[in-house]
Amino acid sequence: MATAEAKPGAAESKAEKAPPSTIVIFGATGDLTKRKLVPALFNLVAGGLLPDELAIVGFGRTEMSSEQFRDHMREDLERFATRKVDPQLADWLIERISYTAGNFKDSASYERLESTIQKAEQERRTGGSRLYYLATPPPFFADIVQHLGEAKMAAEPEGHFRRVVIEKPFGHDLESAEELNRQIREVLQEKQIYRIDHYLGKETVQNIMAFRFANGIFEPIWNRRYIDHVQITVAESVGVEDRGSYYENAGALRDVLQNHVFQLLAFVAMEPPISFAADIVRDERVKILKALRPMSNEDVLREAVRGQYGEGVIDGERVRAYRAETDVSPHSTTETYAALKVHIDNWRWADVPFYLRTGKCMPRRVTEIAVHFKRAPHMLFRDTTVEALNPNVLVLHIQPDEGVSLRFDAKIPGPKMALGTVKMDFEYEDYFGSTPQTGYETLLYDCMEGDSTLFHRSDVVEASWEAVTPVLDVWKTLVPRNFPNYPAGSWGPKEADDLIQRDGRQWRTPRPRPKKEKDC
Ligand code: BG6
Repeated sequence: MATAEAKPGAAESKAEKAPPSTIVIFGATGDLTKRKLVPALFNLVAGGLLPDELAIVGFGRTEMSSEQFRDHMREDLERFATRKVDPQLADWLIERISYTAGNFKDSASYERLESTIQKAEQERRTGGSRLYYLATPPPFFADIVQHLGEAKMAAEPEGHFRRVVIEKPFGHDLESAEELNRQIREVLQEKQIYRIDHYLGKETVQNIMAFRFANGIFEPIWNRRYIDHVQITVAESVGVEDRGSYYENAGALRDVLQNHVFQLLAFVAMEPPISFAADIVRDERVKILKALRPMSNEDVLREAVRGQYGEGVIDGERVRAYRAETDVSPHSTTETYAALKVHIDNWRWADVPFYLRTGKCMPRRVTEIAVHFKRAPHMLFRDTTVEALNPNVLVLHIQPDEGVSLRFDAKIPGPKMALGTVKMDFEYEDYFGSTPQTGYETLLYDCMEGDSTLFHRSDVVEASWEAVTPVLDVWKTLVPRNFPNYPAGSWGPKEADDLIQRDGRQWRTPRPRPKKEKDC
């Protein structure tokens, strides 16, 4: 383990309270609100980051009173909070919540909503700033924004903001994403739109920038001269759970690879921005997506792999096949695994392949970026017992372990020259303690602050759809005949191994990092 100079918590950033505002949650009775948004707001309360002048208005399709909604939120908070619920802090939050039921497509509902918001604004003295959070199914996004426009709820009053947070998936392909962008921009200015990708709210994802750009020693070797290839893995041990009907039309490529994995790729590959300003950082991220080499049909056949899990065993438990999941067709051709080999056509990364993979029902949950360096250029130890030199691997562990590790060779003590592979490990919790977060805290806070660095601009969304369009097209045309092609509890289909082995490389097998004896 690396030696700490910082004391735990020493580098904790001191943030100001967010400005007065009303958060209006569309789809307030859904899963996202109870599992993520309310627990995240609670964590912000506990961190002293929310102003006294705050109101939260839930808007949903289920009829209920504000009192009933508050009761549900209180129960859900007990269930989903990521920290122990202090009753006083919970009261502080819950008493600021009100609710109104309505139909997202009906103008009269927006009139009722407006009067509920105005009442809350007066009671809580929030001024006129509002954050509309669209936590609804995607087909409602455009309608809601149109209605906000018609009801004059979107225009920013002098000195106050009106911002709209839009959940993923943003579109289903390039065409639908462009259309959605067009529709919402009829009502909103780009600076009012916050397209969310919850991966960008993860501390360890943001740490990629700190790691690369706050330390002088990594950037000089962060390029094609020293790096052989990069592997990015987002593996989940869960299946589709109760989201079968959504997932059937999405699949792993749309659900995770096109957004979360591409964002990890952008952070790890981008050029150093000239400042931390939102648009400057987003300019650099989008350049990476635009530099992705377009794939021909032949490239797709060779460099894109899809899979679907059959039944299997995970953690000693039998798991049913994807086709046997609720709301999934018994003949489904939806992929639950996707792997791609991509190239970034710029000076820094020419000829460096990036291998990307994501899948459901893998042996364990792990998200990591492994940077594989080139072997040492000269075999100095020829007349010794050393047969081969292992390349160095630097791993950015995103979740559930959070940290950075470096694998390198060292001499095994003794009279002969023999090498053993060792590793240096940094773990977040060793230095900064750990307070589990939902990932939405920073995003909600940033949005209230008006900092859009961690949100997608329309060009980011469109560039990432553009990059996967050839794959979507080929996969749509060619029906997969070998599904299911990997058992639940394995690391994916054999074709994915072939994809990387053809280049003389291997996927890493991430293993749990047992305390004090960690794998790199
Ligand atoms: C979501 C996907 O965006 O990300 C889910 O829709 C996936 O299918 C989830 O499970 C993974 O997020 P996390 O934070 O658990 O890695």
